[in-house]
Amino acid sequence: MEILKTFDDFEQSALAAIRAANTSELLEAARIEYMGQKNGRIRELQKLVGQATPDLKPQVGKRFNEVRTAVSDALDQQQLAVQAQVRKAAMDFDVTLPGELPRLGKLHPITQTIAQFRELMGRFGFMVTEGPELEDEHHNFQALNIPEDHPARDPLDNFYVACATVAAGTPVLLRSQTSTVQIRTMEKTKPPVRIVSLGRVYRPDAIDATHSCMFHQMEGLMVDRHVTMAQLKTVLSLFARSFLGPDVEIRFRPSFFPFTEPSVEVDMKWGNSWMEIGGAGMVDPNVFAAVGYDPSEVSGFAFGLGIERFCMKHYGVDDIRRFYENDVRFLSQF
Ligand code: PHE
Repeated sequence: MEILKTFDDFEQSALAAIRAANTSELLEAARIEYMGQKNGRIRELQKLVGQATPDLKPQVGKRFNEVRTAVSDALDQQQLAVQAQVRKAAMDFDVTLPGELPRLGKLHPITQTIAQFRELMGRFGFMVTEGPELEDEHHNFQALNIPEDHPARDPLDNFYVACATVAAGTPVLLRSQTSTVQIRTMEKTKPPVRIVSLGRVYRPDAIDATHSCMFHQMEGLMVDRHVTMAQLKTVLSLFARSFLGPDVEIRFRPSFFPFTEPSVEVDMKWGNSWMEIGGAGMVDPNVFAAVGYDPSEVSGFAFGLGIERFCMKHYGVDDIRRFYENDVRFLSQF
């Protein structure tokens, strides 16, 4: 009989597909194809039962039920088999094999140094603050007593950022020094102030073993009544010795910065010669005036140190460029 043949074909192909389905995804696909509620092929068989003549109906109906039961039993069985296989695969590994160690990353040496600096200066009572790397001329120059015609403002010595300038409607540059944070701090805090700020600065310098166009500075600022140059020298010497050891030699050379008076340059003994590690001085009265402090009431010192250079001395690295080449063989030593 034609109908029964259709049933047989359905049963055979369904059972074959189910047995071949060795993952739960394949098994689910087979279930939907043959037994799916909406469009499963079983629906067509059901229609045939409906269309059968009354005399054939009992026989056809019985066969339909058999086929349906057989296929759904096969589905259940195969599902158990697939699950068992998954469980077995999960157990089936050799626990005595040596494990694979993940390669652990670590903090960049500069980041580690910054963390140590913060911690050290924290112990001297300096709070950590931060400022933006994109700055306006007011914070990078004007309030720091660097007038408009000063050579430090030369576009060739700074990274002016064209699109940011357009957006802000006023010149914007990558800060060339962290002294910007002195201004930002004093603008929003009343004295006394004792802060450090550590971060990136940018200068279009020729790149060599000790210069990079991006490097890190630690800015320090202390303002109170009767702050003296002696305190500045003490803090810097103590800091250098705490970080590099009691034998480190530091010297102060008279110098000039628009925002400090008097000013010094700070050098560190480097082999047989000296290396400049930063500048410092007593905050210029003009700077106090720019932030609304009364220069006859308060005095203060400020310093800016190059973090890379400390780091080079500390770890014995002779070329600043090594820090930024992302060579894992270099970086993993720290
Ligand atoms: N801002 C100076 C520089 O980048 C360093 C400095 C900071 C000097 C604070 C004096 C006081 O060279």
